[in-house]
Amino acid sequence: MGNNWLIEQKEDDKLKQEALLGQGKLPHHVAVIMDGNGRWATERNLPRIAGHKEGIESVREIVKASSQLGIGYLTLYAFSIENWKRPSAEVQGLMLLLEHYLKTEIDELHNNNVRFLTIGKLSSLPKNVQKLIKSAQEKTKNNKGLTLTLALSYSGRWDIVRAVQMIALDVRRGKISPEDISEERFSSYLQTNSLPAPDLVIRTSGEMRLSNFLLWEVAYSEFYITNKYWPDFRRDDFYNSIESYMQRERRFGKTSSQLRDEKSSSASNYIQWVVNALKK
Ligand code: FPP
Repeated sequence: MGNNWLIEQKEDDKLKQEALLGQGKLPHHVAVIMDGNGRWATERNLPRIAGHKEGIESVREIVKASSQLGIGYLTLYAFSIENWKRPSAEVQGLMLLLEHYLKTEIDELHNNNVRFLTIGKLSSLPKNVQKLIKSAQEKTKNNKGLTLTLALSYSGRWDIVRAVQMIALDVRRGKISPEDISEERFSSYLQTNSLPAPDLVIRTSGEMRLSNFLLWEVAYSEFYITNKYWPDFRRDDFYNSIESYMQRERRFGKTSSQLRDEKSSSASNYIQWVVNALKK
């Protein structure tokens, strides 16, 4: 069955979340590059897979916290296309962990209104994992809470090339003409087409790289990089990342003063000015 995350939530954690929510606007979509599992394990003289296993605890915690806070979308980079080049024992271990996660967590995700999605080249995954993913998606498809997307056998360039191929086919079939290809139209061919662009991208373990994650989608995302390894990244670290995001000014290419002017010249302010002027 699985627990209800709102009922089980501890009082001090509720207070922390309330304080956070009072500080600003939540990111609607948070995307995470979960890095550092291997180093976490090596520093403890453990096999790398032990780091991935502990990383799942962080996944569980961040998924719960996101859902409790009311974040709309959480996207986790769990396995890249390039990760297939790792030693086969590690790849097999990761697939077993993924299988275990899907078998044991989906009911709890479902009971907490989470919609489960994936992006990536699913046909490369083991058949049993593909089946579990399909049934998880089917089961949770009408849920209206957090949308949890796992990027599995995913890479940003792969998705872009895939989109270009499909667009080329549609042009050849006469469904669209080259002039119809706008940014919006292009986005609609990506596997992320049902997700808004990420507002916040978190990367753990201190690396300053995108590693082929959501290349098109992160054009205006805010980045938060922490030195903590993913297995050590828990609730409070997540709250810190959101707090940092809330303090930023997102300009989308504009200047600060333009943004200030836009705020002060919103329609209602403008009309209020006219009303006041007429009173004089
Ligand atoms: C990067 O750390 C992490 C990965 C390649 C896998 C992430 C997978 C998990 C957290 C567990 C599986 C997830 C789910 C949702 C079931 P790294 O191995 O590159 O670490 P390193 O850079 O220290 O070597």
